[in-house]
Amino acid sequence: MFTNVWYVAARSEDLQDKPLKVRMLGCDFVLYREPGGKAVCLSNVCPHRGGSLAHGKCKDDGSIACPYHAWSFNGEGKCTQIASRRGEDPQDVAPGVKIDAYPTEERYGFIWAFLGDEPENAAPIIDMPEYDDDGFRSTTTHSEV
Ligand code: FES
Repeated sequence: MFTNVWYVAARSEDLQDKPLKVRMLGCDFVLYREPGGKAVCLSNVCPHRGGSLAHGKCKDDGSIACPYHAWSFNGEGKCTQIASRRGEDPQDVAPGVKIDAYPTEERYGFIWAFLGDEPENAAPIIDMPEYDDDGFRSTTTHSEV
């Protein structure tokens, strides 16, 4: 399994204002957009009790809230709020709690995610200079297995 490469996680048009569950390399991830539009990719499994973040809610502060007990995580995977302990630092309540976060890039109408642990050694996203060339036309297809 090749993890140290960029994978297409979704078409840009498919990620709007709600979280989107995607499956890559046999694992589930959630994509969502921060208020500025940047795509975020996190593991879909909440570290509290395994809730699916894809069924959660995007918040105005750029985090996503789990639908189960509303723990919130930002785009870097840091736990930013434990709903039942509002006003307390989540790192004091549950030291070290975080969720895996993955770099994203948006290019050529796709959201790309890097799932490996060596971004400095990764091959770059494939170069497609024709994409912006009026002399070329692009098409995409989507299939589910
Ligand atoms: S399972 Fe996600 S907050 Fe409890």
